[in-house]
Amino acid sequence: MRSDGPPDDLHPLIRDRWSPRALDPAGVVTGAALHRVLEAARWAPSYGNTQPARFVAGLRGSGTFDRILALLNRGNQAWAYAAGALVIACAETENEKGEIPYAEYGVGLAAENLVLQAVAEGLVAHQMAGFDAPGATVEFDLPASVRPLTAIAIGVLGPPELLPEDKRGRETAPRHRKPSTDTVFTDRWGTPLNPADG
Ligand SMILES: Cc1cc2nc3c(=O)[nH]c(=O)nc-3n(C[C@H](O)[C@H](O)[C@H](O)COP(=O)(O)O)c2cc1C
Repeated sequence: MRSDGPPDDLHPLIRDRWSPRALDPAGVVTGAALHRVLEAARWAPSYGNTQPARFVAGLRGSGTFDRILALLNRGNQAWAYAAGALVIACAETENEKGEIPYAEYGVGLAAENLVLQAVAEGLVAHQMAGFDAPGATVEFDLPASVRPLTAIAIGVLGPPELLPEDKRGRETAPRHRKPSTDTVFTDRWGTPLNPADG
C-alpha cells in the first residue's frame, strides 16, 4: 500500500493497486492463491460471453515459471525473478463463428480482475508488455489463433531497498494521472464533466 495515488474515497482494492517492482524473493504465492486470481479472471465479462482470455501460469520453483522468466526482457527479469508466480495472458482470437470481437478488450478485463483479486489476497501484481511474445508462442506451443499479450508478475511487496540503488527512485516516485478534465467529457468532446454535476 502507498500513501499517494488514488483518493481515499475509492474502493480499497482500487486505491491500493499499483505496479511495484520491489518484490520479496522470500514471499510465497500459494497454489490456492494463484488459483483464485485466475478464477477471478475467468469470471470477467466478455463480448457475448466469448471468454477470450487464456493464461499460462507457473509458481516460482516450477519449470513454467523459469520459462516465462526467460522470456521477459532484461529490465523486467531484474525484478520479476522475485515474483511468487508468473503468468502470460493471451487472447484466443477465434471461435467457431470466426474472429472473436473485442478479444483484447476481454483479456484486459480478465487481467484487471486477476490484478484486483491479487490485491485482495494481500499480494501485488505487475503487468508487463516487455517480453518475447513470439518466443512465448514457440515455448508454450500456442495455437496460431492465440496471441500472447502480457506477462504478469504476482508476488509479495517488499521494501524499495530490494531494488538496485539506481532503480529505487522509480519505485517511490509520486504516481500521476491525467486530470479528469482531460479525459471525462459531457455535452461535447472537450467539455469536462464537472464532478459536482454528478
Ligand atoms: C499492458 C501493460 C504493459 C506494461 N508493461 C510493463 C513492463 O514491461 N514493465 C514494467 O515495469 N511495467 C509495465 N507496465 C506497468 C505500467 O508501467 C504501470 O501500470 C503504469 O505506469 C501505471 O502505474 P501503476 O500500475 O502503478 O498505477 C505495464 C502495464 C500495462 C497495463
